[in-house]
Amino acid sequence: MEPPTLKPNLLRNILIRLLSFGVLVFAVRFAYIVTVKGGSCDSGDFCFFPENLNIRGASVRVQSVSAVSDVGHLSTTKKWRGSVDYYSSIFQDLISEGSLSPNSIALCIETQTGEDVLALKEMGIVDSVGIFKKAYPPLIVHGEAHSQPFGADTFDFEFSGNGGLDRSARPAEFAAEINRTLKPGGFLVIHTSAAKDMYSFNSLLELFNFCILIRSHEIDGVDSSSIREVVMKKHVEILGFEARESSLSGNSANKCSVPGYKREIIRNAEPLILEEPLKPWITLKRNIKNVKYLTSVVDISYKNRYVYVDVGARSYGSSIASWFKKQYPKQNKTFDVYAIEADRAFHEEYKRKKRVKLLPYAAWVRNETLFFEITRDPGKKVMPKGGGMGRIHPVKTSSSYMGHSDTNKIEGFDLADWLKSTVTYRDFVVMKMDVEGTEFHLIPRLIQTGAICLIDEFFFECHYNRWQRCCPGQRSAKYQKTYAQCLDLFTSLRESGVLVHQWW
Ligand SMILES: *[C@@H]1O[C@H](CO)[C@@H](O)[C@H](O)[C@H]1NC(C)=O
Ligand SMILES: *[C@@H]1O[C@H](CO)[C@@H](O)[C@H](O)[C@H]1NC(C)=O
Ligand SMILES: *[C@@H]1O[C@H](CO)[C@@H](O)[C@H](O)[C@H]1NC(C)=O
Repeated sequence: MEPPTLKPNLLRNILIRLLSFGVLVFAVRFAYIVTVKGGSCDSGDFCFFPENLNIRGASVRVQSVSAVSDVGHLSTTKKWRGSVDYYSSIFQDLISEGSLSPNSIALCIETQTGEDVLALKEMGIVDSVGIFKKAYPPLIVHGEAHSQPFGADTFDFEFSGNGGLDRSARPAEFAAEINRTLKPGGFLVIHTSAAKDMYSFNSLLELFNFCILIRSHEIDGVDSSSIREVVMKKHVEILGFEARESSLSGNSANKCSVPGYKREIIRNAEPLILEEPLKPWITLKRNIKNVKYLTSVVDISYKNRYVYVDVGARSYGSSIASWFKKQYPKQNKTFDVYAIEADRAFHEEYKRKKRVKLLPYAAWVRNETLFFEITRDPGKKVMPKGGGMGRIHPVKTSSSYMGHSDTNKIEGFDLADWLKSTVTYRDFVVMKMDVEGTEFHLIPRLIQTGAICLIDEFFFECHYNRWQRCCPGQRSAKYQKTYAQCLDLFTSLRESGVLVHQWW
């Protein structure tokens, strides 16, 4: 027999392979735990960071003090260190005010590199974690503001720094997640560079209406620009939405609560035209150039939805495309558009319009069948397109009008009721109304039901016996109301806190 010279070699090879396989398994396991589990310790599992703490109710575990030394490699840049110190001083103030404590379980929302989390940890607030769409262990776990990876009532303190809320495309979901994960009585601190005017500041508070405002003040941001720090506390008892709604809509149904900043906006609006225009077809049309749009004066961030309601929309081109889409300043928000138009002649084209919802009914004060007549103003040039189509003018209700042919029948619906079930105070609502005299029924009903308070900006044409273009010295016989009555309506709307403009 040959001496087994090859055997030790073979043995060594096997040993080396086994060993490297072991190292590989170890390395893969290590990488898995550090990247996927964020270095957490599950019982009986490989343990990388020994002092982990488990945030109650959280599905993600959070590292404790050990993290501070582990992130030493991060704090090399001066800028990064500067940011950590900035957040330390912010949190120090919050500790002295009592909104943050060393025992707080704390969350930093949408923090990209975790300076704020590190500041908390260095201050001994060990149960703190950040979320961002990209995890950055050990400070930041994967998560987004609108979908936090934590259970309900997890945190005592939540912080949104560096304009995170301002950048959010879904502020309502941002807020709803905080409502879910912040404990009752917990604190919420927001740094924002928007919310500069009272209007947007109040929409911000409305967004977090599950909190009360503790304080708000201007401070220097991390890059020394001026920002606003808003400190809020979550209600201990759940304040029903109902209670909130009624406090906003005022104590009686027919009065909107109008805070001073809203009155100020109305006071600064373009003046109403007090003298009856002799050439209304020119004066009223030109007036749209004087309109001070609300969205050119205040920031409309922090609203839940953006809604445009065109009552008496006619064809798509007549006001939605030519005015709202083109001219109304929208601050880059996407609006949900509702077109309310009873005239069947216009319905077809709306089928091709995505993002525009057609309500093929007449806006009315209750749900009922209406009979209408097609009106044609002899003074007006007949519409160039659409074959001289007049305007639908609901005249008689089903109860008072019998024996008319079915072709002149349309369905009317309760506009005020619809508005109240479609939008809330947290939405931004613009309405245009051009309804051939029916406004004298609709507006009192909107006021009486409080639905008018849901409208942020209102444009309406008031129909009266105007001077005619064709025939000097003659008034239109189509409408009975006078200019004075129209002016009264506009004035009383503005006095009751509605930002209304004269439409032509
Ligand atoms: C906040 O949460 C409570 C309890 O789940 C809920 O009733 C309330 O409507 C929420 N509020 C907001 C603004 O999300
Ligand atoms: C709207 O978006 C454009 C391009 O993204 C930007 O230049 C502009 O400043 C934005 N306007 C507002 C009011 O946010
Ligand atoms: C009126 O009609 C609308 C739309 O069809 C409906 O949603 C609403 O419930 C009706 N209201 C009443 C009081 O019947």
